[in-house]
Amino acid sequence: KQKVIIDCDPGIDDSLALLLALNSPELDVIGITIVCGNVPVSLGADNALKILRLGKRLDIPVYIGAKKPLIRDYISAQDTHGVDGLGETNIPAVTNVYAKSGAIDFINQSLIQYPDLTIIAIGPLTNIAIALKKQPTAWKSLKNFISMGGAYKSYGNCSPVAEYNYWCDPDAANYVYSSLPCKITMVGLDVTRKIVLTPNILEYICAINPKMGSFIRAITRFYFDFHWQQEKVIGCVINDPLAIAYAITPTLCEGFDAYTQIETIGISLGQSIVDAQNIFKHVTNSHILTKVDDFKFMHMFLERIATAKEP
Ligand code: BDR
Ligand code: CA
Repeated sequence: KQKVIIDCDPGIDDSLALLLALNSPELDVIGITIVCGNVPVSLGADNALKILRLGKRLDIPVYIGAKKPLIRDYISAQDTHGVDGLGETNIPAVTNVYAKSGAIDFINQSLIQYPDLTIIAIGPLTNIAIALKKQPTAWKSLKNFISMGGAYKSYGNCSPVAEYNYWCDPDAANYVYSSLPCKITMVGLDVTRKIVLTPNILEYICAINPKMGSFIRAITRFYFDFHWQQEKVIGCVINDPLAIAYAITPTLCEGFDAYTQIETIGISLGQSIVDAQNIFKHVTNSHILTKVDDFKFMHMFLERIATAKEP
């Protein structure tokens, strides 16, 4: 089993990503670390616990990390995910298990303990940047780092050019791209925009796993409305689960290696600038995903979520 830490900001699509991970026998989720992003960090931790309760996996520890970006003011995405981060469903909080503090040390200690660890970051990269700055030697043996964020040719979702995770904390993102010893797999909007949970697919999930289906229907209702109003998409784009699926089956996607930097100032703040033509002649630091077999992804997602044991 592949040992993984999921660094996240749940968040509607983060929650679906966690459910996918919990129902994937290839993965051993050793911990979930929370960063401020879609919602303030304490709310993100509450939501992660709600998902673990649903998946009957409250044995997995949840650690609280950064409360604000490295330098910039914190701007949440509660307009997209709802004030509670779960589409304003106000699902009751877990009361018998608590999130712990110390996400940064947990990440660093795990890297030392498990040299073959995979880190999947599906929120802003603040926790990762802080951990890397604090103990760079812990990161020496890391080989697999997957980040949902950025946009190579696709347009942004926070500005014409910037995607939320990198826009929320561009300084952290740029630090990670410039300092991580291994290549970052960038699961950007180029590929995640192809992953749309449509009303039909949702109905199907409801039909074959009613409890899971009604939970997913409840948390995505808000997201459906948002996508229709913003982009006239029927259904909702679920970005984060693709990062989990890629960890399990990298052949779902195609991409190329390149040198990438994240803009930290000005009008293009948070933009992922990918030197696809190798103009800078810089050593490559990223693997940029450009194509996804969305049918195969959805097949995998459905198979695992819809047939997950009823909670
Ligand atoms: C990313 O931003 C968040 O709103 C989502 O959870 C996802 O991680 C997409 O831009
Ligand atoms: Ca996220």
